[in-house]
Formats: sequence, C-alpha cells, structure tokens
Amino acid sequence: PPLDNILNMHDFESVAKMVLPEKAWAYYSSASDDEITLRENRLAYQRVWFRPRILRDVSSVDWSTTILGQKSSLPLYISATALGKLGHPDGELCLTKAAANYGVIQMIATLASCSFDDIIDAAAPGQTFFLQFHTRYVNRDREITKKYVQHAERRGVKGLFITVDAPQLGRREKDMRMKFVDDDAGAEVQKGQDVKKDQGVARAISSFIDPSLSWKDIPWFKSITKMPIILKGIATGEDAILAYEAGVQGIVLSNHGGRQLDTARSGLEVLVEVTTALRKRGYFPDPKFEIYVDGGVRRASDVLKAIALGAKAVGVGRPFLYAFCSYGQEGVERAIQLFRDEFEMNMRLLGARTIDEIVPEMVDASSLSSH
Ligand code: FNR
Repeated sequence: PPLDNILNMHDFESVAKMVLPEKAWAYYSSASDDEITLRENRLAYQRVWFRPRILRDVSSVDWSTTILGQKSSLPLYISATALGKLGHPDGELCLTKAAANYGVIQMIATLASCSFDDIIDAAAPGQTFFLQFHTRYVNRDREITKKYVQHAERRGVKGLFITVDAPQLGRREKDMRMKFVDDDAGAEVQKGQDVKKDQGVARAISSFIDPSLSWKDIPWFKSITKMPIILKGIATGEDAILAYEAGVQGIVLSNHGGRQLDTARSGLEVLVEVTTALRKRGYFPDPKFEIYVDGGVRRASDVLKAIALGAKAVGVGRPFLYAFCSYGQEGVERAIQLFRDEFEMNMRLLGARTIDEIVPEMVDASSLSSH
C-alpha cells in the first residue's frame, strides 16, 4: 500500500509481514518461548488509564526533550535492532538518514548490518547517536572492547548502552526453524569465526555473547570512557538500586522486546517498582540518573504513560525496523511524523503543554500489579 495509507505503527507491522522474506520476518518478529512477555508488553499499556486535565490553553504544545542531555525532538529514541539488511538493502542507514532529518536519536547496535563507521560517516553534522554494546569480548579480550568503545567515543557517540539481559540469547522458536545462510550475515557477523548456521539467525550470532559479565566489570567500563553508561535490560527495583550505586547514568527497563526471559514483566510494570525502590533510598528523582523504558511502545499515548510514571524517554524497536523494511528511509520518516501527530493530539487532550507538565496524577496505574 502507498505510504499515505499507513496510519499507525501496527500498519507498518502488517505490511512488513506481507513483504518480508520469511526468514527476516521470523527473526524480527519472534520472541522467546511462548511469547507471553511479547504480548504483555502491549497489554501493560492497556492497563494504565489517563486522567486528563482541561481548560489549560493547549494552543501550543511542545513534546521535545533531552535524553542524556542531548536534544531530542521527541521523547523517544530508536532502539538497537540487529541485522537491518535482512529487511532492506540499505539496512540501518535508513534509520540514520530519517533520524537526521527529524532530530531523533539513533542507538546503533553492535550487531548492525551496516558497520559502525558507515553509519557515522552517513550522519548529518551534529547528529546524535548512542551505541548499544553487547557483552561479547568483554572478559575474553578487554583490549578489543576498550578499542571499540574508545573509537565510538572519538567518533562522537553520546552514550554507551550496555545490554545486560542477554548473557545467552533466548530461544526464539520461529527463528530457530529457519537456516542461517552466509548472504544474510551482517558486517559484524562476517568478521566472526564460530558462526552456528543450523538454527536461525539469533543462534548464528549467539557466539558473540560473553556470559561472564558482572557488576565487577562496571568500574572498568567507567575507567575506559567518559561517555555516559546506561544498563539496558534492568527488570527489578533491586537491580535499579545496584545500578544507581554503581554510578551509571541511567537504566533501560526492558525485556529485549520479549526476546529473552519469557514471562519477564513489561518495562512499564517494572517502572513503578523501580521508582518506588529508588525513591525509598533517596535516589529518585535525580536528574543525573535517567530511566528509560522499552518494549511494546506503539503509540504516543504509551510514551506519555511511561513519562507520567517517571521515565525520561522510551525506546522503540520493531516499529522503525518494520517501517524501513517496507518503505526505506521514507517509511521511518512517516513513522516519526505519525508519532509527532499523536504527541500533539494526545498532549492537548491530556492538558500537558510540555513534557514537564506530564505528571503522575495524569495516569491511573492502579491496575498495574506493582503499583
Ligand atoms: C532487538 N533488540 C536488541 N537489543 C540489544 O540490546 N541488542 C541487539 O542486538 C538487539 N537486537 C534486536 C533485534 C531485533 C530484530 C529486535 C526486534 C530487537 C531489542 C531492542 O533494542 C528493544 O529492546 C526492543 O526491540 C523493544 O521492543 P519493541 O519496541 O520491539 O517492542
């Protein structure tokens, strides 16, 4: 269908399902085991209700914000998704170019199909990037990690997001039924030895993962870079406290889009627990420690709920991936425009003129079990 007919993120998903090669669809859409967490990521947002305020002169509304001190035209960023070229010949560059045109921050995946330098070379002047970092290499070869991280910092990356919920990749059975062949491989994957090809894309790249990472390694990361460090994949109040005490600059409450531990809770559910736990210790709110949520965000209203409950911004994964698989850079631009339109309408209807005016009283979260 023509791009004008796409009205929301669900439409991008439907089109991707129709047009993508079976293997790409399986890798992108799959989640682990019975996909209960995947489903819950959507359902959690449906348990939170708005308490809109009226008569507040909402003729002008502004949904721009900062993330880690960096300007962002929307309170969301493009989260890291691996192997973009499975779905489009230009891969992650579709995201980069659209993000540049719309002032959105892109988080580059370690396992992106396009190389890190190709992405940075394609950037607009001053464009902001974060880097997602897999735990591979860390304890096998610290020099490689150090070089990689310091190279990213020199090239201007503004935040290092260390993925902490994937010491081993989840079993994504839809994907495991597929065979991985060489021409699917991303730039990073091609460099690897040890690629297992018999069971799906995720299995093929799993040899890059180092399961030995622990809290003890965080001081070392802090010693090799001045970039802010964010732990991606926190799922409890206890670990949020440890993260704060480890001196990192932020956490992403995430279950990896339902692709890791099945029946882990949604990020939104975890958010309430985390802010409560941090507040008890006097750690929240703290402008030097930002909390993000990802998983299942498909509407601006979802984003506003997370912000009301204490998130600084949210990450969006599959929607942007599906947008570029079907329509390239223009698809991603359309997705951003749709979010923008939804922010405008929803903030007016909610009675919030700026992101700062989105307060906890604007939602009824009493149906979340962690409330
Ligand atoms: C991911 N995600 C991910 N996360 C990460 O830290 N490193 C990675 O390499 C990947 N790769 C990846 C591939 C694909 C195909 C998907 C769908 C997801 C997880 C991603 O960053 C984010 O946490 C989720 O995608 C958020 O959920 P939604 O927005 O997809 O529902």
